[in-house]
Amino acid sequence: MNVTFKRHRRLRKTAAIREMVRETTLSANDFIYPLFVTEETNKKTEVPSMPGVFQYSLDRLNDEVAEVQKLGIRAIILFGLPHHKDEIGSEAFASHGIIQQATRQIKEAFPNMLVIADTCLCEFTDHGHCGIIREGDVVNDESLTLLVRTAVSQAEAGADIIAPSNMMDGFVAAIRKGLDEAGYVDVPIMSYAVKYASAFYGPFRDAANSAPAFGDRKTYQMDPANREEAVREATSDLEEGADFLIVKPALSYLDIVRDVKEMSNVPIVAYNVSGEYAMVKAAAQNGWVNERAIVLEKLVSMKRAGATLILTYFAKDAAQWLYEETRGGY
Ligand code: PBG
Repeated sequence: MNVTFKRHRRLRKTAAIREMVRETTLSANDFIYPLFVTEETNKKTEVPSMPGVFQYSLDRLNDEVAEVQKLGIRAIILFGLPHHKDEIGSEAFASHGIIQQATRQIKEAFPNMLVIADTCLCEFTDHGHCGIIREGDVVNDESLTLLVRTAVSQAEAGADIIAPSNMMDGFVAAIRKGLDEAGYVDVPIMSYAVKYASAFYGPFRDAANSAPAFGDRKTYQMDPANREEAVREATSDLEEGADFLIVKPALSYLDIVRDVKEMSNVPIVAYNVSGEYAMVKAAAQNGWVNERAIVLEKLVSMKRAGATLILTYFAKDAAQWLYEETRGGY
């Protein structure tokens, strides 16, 4: 046989050589773990559509954070379930709001744990939309005012990073200005810059009790068919001062993760959302897939696509699995 060809298999021959040429790595340091905090007491309630994910009351929260820290995960993001909801989501920016209380409590007990505050109104409004409603739609500029108040009160409570997710135009500029004026010049903004109007958020809306009471979020979240629009969104957020850019969801949007990585020079965060978690869990519970292998494969795919960090409900499991891997892991 005198056909010439390349022998790619040389570099795959043993575990040792595969590990030596591996281009992408995964570690607990890459993960951000989401936590849902409820204003009730003595509650640890599993989310039905997200097995393994719980809503915690404040008195049960520290045990969970201790576990997260023990696994080597250095950052959590908080979502709140308030007792009281109203038209403008006032519990989002109240100094005694559930997120503010949880942040103070965690920072006191775990000063090294990075607390990221999700800055949005949908968990706190009685209509479930991410801003103020006028004539059936969310109005932009008035909603910004409330979002800025929310971000400043979260920083006041000790949040290390502000993560605005409501997709109003100008939210990064407005929040940056608000934080600076309040003296929080060193608090970074992790912007949900590229957030699609996605059916993959379904289970989260159960977990955070935040489904819109009417309509959908298509006038503020992006159309899944659009790619150039992602570059426009990321560009404006960078100009406005974003320190990190989130792409959300992750799995069906890895092309977008790569685009955003290539047009920017800030850390990119891939948000592996609730529906992506629920699908793997359901298949694994049926014995149809190998959960551990699938999860590590999809997380490393997000890094390969260009993500610096991954926000994922699998963070604890993945950190444990990575710790257990001796050879052949990621
Ligand atoms: C709040 C917010 C949502 C998610 C994160 N922040 C819900 C939404 O936009 O409807 C979804 C996260 C997930 O599905 O895991 N705006």
